[in-house]
Formats: sequence, structure tokens, C-alpha cells
Amino acid sequence: EFGTIGDELGMGVYVVGGFVRDLLLREDNFDVDIVVEGDGVKFAQILKERYGAKISPHEKFKTAQVVFKDGFRLDVATARLEYYEYPAAMPTVSISSLKLDLYRRDFTINTLAIKLNSKEFGLLIDFFGGQRDLKDKCIRVLHSLSFVEDPTRVFRAVRFEQRFGFQIGKHTLRLIKNARRLNIFDKLTGKRLFTELKLILDDRDPEAALLRLKDLDLLEVIHKDLKLTEVVLDRIRAAKGVLSWYELLFKPQKPRQWLLFLLNLVSEFSSRSIKGLCQRLDLTGKNEVLFTKLREEAIKVASILDRESDVRPSKVYRLLRPLPLEHQLFCMCLGKTHVPKKEISRFITEYQDIRPHLKGNDLKSLGIPPGPIYSEILEKLRDARLDGEVETRDDEIDFVQR
Ligand code: CTP
Repeated sequence: EFGTIGDELGMGVYVVGGFVRDLLLREDNFDVDIVVEGDGVKFAQILKERYGAKISPHEKFKTAQVVFKDGFRLDVATARLEYYEYPAAMPTVSISSLKLDLYRRDFTINTLAIKLNSKEFGLLIDFFGGQRDLKDKCIRVLHSLSFVEDPTRVFRAVRFEQRFGFQIGKHTLRLIKNARRLNIFDKLTGKRLFTELKLILDDRDPEAALLRLKDLDLLEVIHKDLKLTEVVLDRIRAAKGVLSWYELLFKPQKPRQWLLFLLNLVSEFSSRSIKGLCQRLDLTGKNEVLFTKLREEAIKVASILDRESDVRPSKVYRLLRPLPLEHQLFCMCLGKTHVPKKEISRFITEYQDIRPHLKGNDLKSLGIPPGPIYSEILEKLRDARLDGEVETRDDEIDFVQR
């Protein structure tokens, strides 16, 4: 229907970029990007009127995010050309506005478009040899200044290469090495660098991507102490294993994969290096705490568990409860003995869900006057249950009365 709306408005409408790439690669992709030759905001407004979609328009850039009632999302962009509004726009002119829009993109494989207007519905548009590069499994930029225009593309190149099992093209590889030598990354803001790093660590094979980044001398761009030593690589692999194990538990809470990998990646950092990393990635507030205070806690917990052979479940509970899930999993990767792994997996699968049978109301019926003592009693009961000192409700009543 997007095409029909385009027909009515006299605008060319195209689905472009990653969606088309993934369609041809038969990969799932739920991010649909549309480019219209005309006013993208006006196009989005019609979607709002007809389908009750929510839109967030960006007048300045003539773009809009659209969210339909069923949750389907769409990004609408405008193919900009100074003269595209000429009423008698010739077909060649309208074609070239799309071409110019696609020319601004990162790699040839991301420049494919499919026309949605009814007249030529389904027409695959390939100005820059994107189909050939998909076939050849090749990541290629469109022009030599691509990385200078946007240094994040260097990281995107590695991400796509590793995700699809492609190869960065020869010329493109030279441009990356040049970019590295010219230090164009100094201009890259911490926020953008952090975003790219997260995307890489959230992708299919972070280990391979990290090895490739190292190979291209790009880890140092993030922080000079980022090194893939055997210890770090072992931990990255441990993290992979721990994530697969966790996935099979089918728990509702999903860990942030990037966070577990990043914690392992910097697991050997001194607190001074951590500080430098936080500065470079512009980490503040909650994000900073993840890598400072909580990271230190996790390292401490792992070493405590390493030293214990017969640790009480209530102690494990007390140590792990304050940590976010990713830090708990991080402790499993850090462990030198089998104890942290065993105890943390028991915490995740059993201990953390254990509650006493008795509730506040029960304590009231037992004649205990309400107050802060309640949470103390309930905690003691939980510990006793964890440690097998009480089992049934009656055991707990006895325990309280004692
Ligand atoms: N793009 C670009 N330069 C960037 C970021 C994005 O040229 N630094 C372009 C790409 O051509 C891409 C489009 O903007 O196709 C949309 O970007 P994004 O949604 O990040 O990329 P996808 O290709 O959809 O990748 P992913 O599958 O990782 O979402």
C-alpha cells in the first residue's frame, strides 16, 4: 500500500538499504527503511491519517519514524535534491534523487532499492553493483572519502564482514588502513564509538569481529590497553559458552550480550585504564557504574568463590543478589576453580527464586508486632531454606518461634 500512496501523491516510493540486502541474503530483518522522492513527512502524515499510525516527524531532515498499531515500524526518508520539487520533474531527475540518496550510504551492499509504486512494483534498482558484491561476498565503499566522512563505517565494515562471512574488498581495506594511519578516529565522539562497539559485541560472532579489529589495528582506537591476550580470548570464549548455557534455560530475563563480552574484554584492565575507557566512550551514570563499582564487586565475588570449596547457598545468594545478571555471568567466566561456575549456575537456576513459605501476614498471625524486624525475619527464613535448615511451613513456624 505504500506504493499506492506514492502513486496518489505522485512520489516514487522505494524500500532501501539493509532490508533489501537481507531480503536477497534471505536473512531476517524487521527494520524497514523507505525513501520517497517527495516530502517524506507528508507521506508519513498520510500513514497517520489512514492507519492511525504514530509518527515522529523531523521537519529539518524531512524524515519520519512511523509506528503502526500492530507495532510494525518504518523509517521514512526523503531523497533530497534541490530541484526535486519542480512540478514537471522529469523521470531522469527523480531517478537521480534516489541515486544521490543511495550514493551517500556506506557500502554497495546497502545501496539496493526496490520500487513500491504500482507501475513498476518490485523493480530492483542497483546503481552501484550491490547485487554483484552480494554474490561475490564483498564489502565495498562507494567512494574513497567514505571513511573520512564517517569513521564509524570502519567498524560497520568489520561487523558486516563477520556477520555474513564476507570479505572487505581490497581497495576498501586500503582505505581502512589509511584511515587508521591518518587517525581520523580522534574526531569520533565517545557516544558513537560506544554505539558501534555495542553493535559489534551484540552481533553474531563477536570473537571473530574482535580478532578482525585487532588484525586491522583498530582495537587500539577504542583503548590502548585493549589486547586480545590468551587470557582474554579464553574469557571471551567462556562468555560464549555461558550465554549458550543461559539461553537454554529459557528464562524471561535476557542478558545484554554486549555487556558480558565487554566486561570480559576489559577484565584485565587496571582501574586507571577503566577510567580512560569510560572517558573515551563517554560513559556516565548507570553505564559508568557497570564498569566501575559493579565490575569491582564481580571480580571480588569471583575470587571469594574461588577460595571456598564448601560454600553455603545463603552466602552465594548474598554475594550474587546485588549484581546485575551480566555481572553474575561474568563471575562464571572469571572463576579459576569450578566453584564459581557451579555455585552461580545453582544461584541462577534455583537459589534466586527461593522465598520463605511464610509471608508478612503469617508473622502477624504469629503475634509478632509489624516493623522492620519483618524483613529481617523473612531474610533469615530464606537463608534457612536455602541452607536446608527448614523445609516445610511448619519448620518455618518453629524456626520463627525459636
Ligand atoms: N548508513 C551509512 N553510514 C552509517 C550508518 C548507516 O551509510 N554510518 C546507511 C547504510 O547504508 C544502511 C542505512 O544507513 O543501510 C541504515 O543504517 P542501519 O539501520 O544502521 O543499517 P542496516 O544496514 O539496516 O544494518 P543492521 O542490519 O545492522 O541494522
